[in-house]
Amino acid sequence: MNVTQPTYVVIGNPIAHSKSPQIHAQFAAQFAGHPAVATFSYARLLAPLDGFAASVNEFAAEGGRGANVTVPFKEDAFRFAAARTERAEAAGAVNTLQQLPDGSWLGDNTDGAGLVADVLRHVDIRGRRILLLGAGGAARGVILPLLAESPACLTLANRTLGKAQLLLEHFQANTDIPLQVSEYHAIAGQYDLIINATSASLGGERLPIANAVFAPNALAYDMMYGKDETPFLAQAREAGVAQRVDGLGMLVGQAAEAFHLWTGLRPDFEPVLQWMRSQL
Ligand code: ATR
Repeated sequence: MNVTQPTYVVIGNPIAHSKSPQIHAQFAAQFAGHPAVATFSYARLLAPLDGFAASVNEFAAEGGRGANVTVPFKEDAFRFAAARTERAEAAGAVNTLQQLPDGSWLGDNTDGAGLVADVLRHVDIRGRRILLLGAGGAARGVILPLLAESPACLTLANRTLGKAQLLLEHFQANTDIPLQVSEYHAIAGQYDLIINATSASLGGERLPIANAVFAPNALAYDMMYGKDETPFLAQAREAGVAQRVDGLGMLVGQAAEAFHLWTGLRPDFEPVLQWMRSQL
């Protein structure tokens, strides 16, 4: 291995804004002196839009062992991986690559585990009623890890109902947990955990859901985060929801899962989350 080259990277385009190097440097510092992090170094890698596979192969030739994959390459990484974990298959996307002993690449997806780890810092999921808002890639990535926590039920609501139906069909065939789809205005019942996986917040838009969907003591979770309160969390606050959490912890949580895959070590993500919050 060429010691001047990083052993791990985050690959994206653009990539200059990524905080992953600082996150992983802090994780590694928690295990200073441990053999599992002796050769751990982490950097950003800008790949050309049409050059994902070539970039990974070049990185591997220089001693690369693993990568985080971000926009717009998560589907490229899915196709690139020679083998994939069950959660990556369910997500239809790969956000973490690990080089296997034969030189081929395992594709994983740690987004859902990152969300679950962050939610569990606040509330239990077992036996709870989940409402998942959105049926795009972000929602798809978290369904299997959420179902693995044995919730009472899961409702998937989306603007385009057909997309939600298509998405849930696959999962319903493999679980006894009751799953249903709904349009936003027609959501029936109350929920303990309401997760926003839409990109509506990006445009400052609110979702047309009734205040009644939030059970007393519900937790509202927005996969989005930012310096200011997100539109969804403002909506939840106005509906009287006391527990409101943004997605910064999911970001740190998915990184912690990737670090664990690569090193076998589980970092404490609380201090790293506090640092990330200070950087917003
Ligand atoms: P991502 O990978 O972030 O999930 P995506 O696959 O494009 O992105 O999915 C975006 C999600 O946000 C979808 O659920 C989309 O709803 P539709 O399937 O009906 O398009 C949802 N979304 C985006 N903008 C929205 C808005 N203004 N109101 C409601 N839902 C919105």
